[in-house]
Amino acid sequence: MDILRAKITAAGHYLPERRVTNLELQKTVDTSDDWIVERTGIRERRVAAKGQATSDLAVEAAKSLLKKRGIDASEIDLIIVGTVTPDMFFPSTACLVQHKIGAKKAWGFDLSGACSGFLYALQTGAQFIAAGAHKKVLVIGADVMTSIIDFEDRATCVLFGDGAGAVLLEPAEAGEVGIMDCLLRSDGSGGEHLYMPAGGSLNPPSVETVQRKMHYVHQDGKNVFRYAVRGMADISAEILEKNSIPSSDIKLYIPHQANLRIIKAAVDRMKLDESRVVVNIDRFANTTAGTIPICLSEAVEGGRIQKGDKILMASFGAGWTWGSVLMQWEA
Ligand SMILES: CC(C)(COP(=O)(O)OP(=O)(O)OC[C@H]1O[C@@H](n2cnc3c(N)ncnc32)[C@H](O)[C@@H]1OP(=O)(O)O)[C@@H](O)C(=O)NCCC(=O)NCCS
Repeated sequence: MDILRAKITAAGHYLPERRVTNLELQKTVDTSDDWIVERTGIRERRVAAKGQATSDLAVEAAKSLLKKRGIDASEIDLIIVGTVTPDMFFPSTACLVQHKIGAKKAWGFDLSGACSGFLYALQTGAQFIAAGAHKKVLVIGADVMTSIIDFEDRATCVLFGDGAGAVLLEPAEAGEVGIMDCLLRSDGSGGEHLYMPAGGSLNPPSVETVQRKMHYVHQDGKNVFRYAVRGMADISAEILEKNSIPSSDIKLYIPHQANLRIIKAAVDRMKLDESRVVVNIDRFANTTAGTIPICLSEAVEGGRIQKGDKILMASFGAGWTWGSVLMQWEA
């Protein structure tokens, strides 16, 4: 059987309406706009409304994508949702999205890859296309990080925001390239540096876990920073070398948005012109699995991507998980 290639045919995104600026955070935690901007590049972030869950953000991103592609949800075969903040442990957020958008014939599942969740999900979805099993795969990255953030902890609460992005994968036509290559990695020895200790089978929720704030994101920021700088820069350079593509051939670089200094390290390493780098961390902070598809969707909407352009996406996150995807835009 021939191996098919997958291509992205549409992208959509959704950000909750409520904007929380650094100045607003400055009123409740011991931080400052200057510190946050200088150390991270973040100026504001979006925060989901009370009762607005990850599936709600994902549904809006999916609906915008379906409208752009001009297809009905009933045509979707498979839904994969990359998230670390599912609505609940079960049913999966993918099932909730499937029901809410009316994707009657689709099956689906969630995938936990933290900030690399979207790239993990993209490559997983691409395999179903490559195998000829499915023709329309909806890949979503969505997180409501503010649901697991301690807003009294200045070291984490300034870094994250809520948002969702989605893409549609379909088989590439003859002569089209689509997704060219993908490198995905994980290293569980990094787990202790960025994690949420309670709520799972190890530390089921209890009065004690709540009192000890174990249901929030815990991180050793310096170590995360150190590994992320190296990990994202290395895997971005590696995929270009492997494919013998000079960075000058990359029309747009879409890095995960955790810290502007981490992005700059990768950009410097590849000697990329800043005009070819997508940055939205100033407006949305780190939206975890939502980040890369939000960047991609914004770039398409803004006319920054044309048919035939080579796009490089890269991520680094909890796990550790990291990866890069090289593609040619065919939409
Ligand atoms: C968290 C991070 C922004 C901290 O920046 P940094 O330059 O490394 O700062 P440091 O950790 O050296 O902290 C310097 C000081 O700033 C303080 N600080 C931390 N957060 C602060 C904040 N929001 N406002 C003001 N001061 C803050 C620290 O307490 C520390 O004070 P101390 O020296 O008195 O102990 C940075 O390490 C980072 O971005 N790490 C990666 C986090 C991440 O991306 N996580 C998700 C991964 S996908």
